[in-house]
Amino acid sequence: MDEEKGISKAVIARLPRYYRYLGELMEEGRERISSQELSQRMKVTASQIRQDLNHFGGFGQQGYGYNVRFLHESIAKILGIDRQHNLIIIGAGNLGQAIANYANFERGGFMIKGMFDVNPRLIGLVVRGVEILGVDDLERFIREHDVQIVALTLPKAKAAEIADRVVKAGIKAIWNFAHVDLVVPEDVVVENVHLSESLMRLSYRVSSIQDQAKERALRERGDQERAAKERSKARRLQVFEEKKAAMR
Ligand code: NAI
Repeated sequence: MDEEKGISKAVIARLPRYYRYLGELMEEGRERISSQELSQRMKVTASQIRQDLNHFGGFGQQGYGYNVRFLHESIAKILGIDRQHNLIIIGAGNLGQAIANYANFERGGFMIKGMFDVNPRLIGLVVRGVEILGVDDLERFIREHDVQIVALTLPKAKAAEIADRVVKAGIKAIWNFAHVDLVVPEDVVVENVHLSESLMRLSYRVSSIQDQAKERALRERGDQERAAKERSKARRLQVFEEKKAAMR
């Protein structure tokens, strides 16, 4: 549970998706939407949507649905993206520069204030208006630019040392891309991002679809024994998916 607001992590994890869909509806000029239609668009049950949004007082009105702009703004407040967050990137290589080049973070209030690296060939370069600096003055930069979030896009072996430094400088939020579990004080939050884990989940799902197709083909060919083996494998995967969905 989220300590301040008493909201489960699963609900908080779904909010960015509601926010994104509602943003798209606003771009289409929609003023309101029923939970039914939102559910069809998002492929989530209407009751799930009602339950999730009820955590925040509901927002919906009987026979009217949801006011798109109001709900969008309310979710932004809950997620804290109605305010500006100053962010720095440590490790200005491929990933760090890719993040700095993505303009949409600013639309969500995440302002990239600085980039840092140890490579003299990178120091001094400017990426989308942000200069890459050396790490010597990191602490002073954090203080002077009211930095709240640090993105770590540097080698795994260097991540813990830099994390310690920024935490000592007062940072409470780390967006960690390095493949290492950071040990931080209790009042510091770490969001780990692992694209490869997302890719593995995709692999798992596509493999399960392939297995089901294989089973169907075997059954059609009359090979019942091998089809049964494939079926039990597919069933195990399905149980796993159901358990995972229930835990979300
Ligand atoms: P890269 O080698 O292009 O960039 C890393 C940068 O960190 C380099 O410019 C290097 O000079 C700098 N660096 C090294 N030590 C430093 C220090 N002490 N302080 C500041 N900067 C330092 O590597 P790439 O591809 O950008 O990956 C960066 C990190 O992100 C790696 O740890 C990689 O494993 C990880 N990664 C994670 C992904 C994810 O989904 N979580 C996806 C891709 C990469």
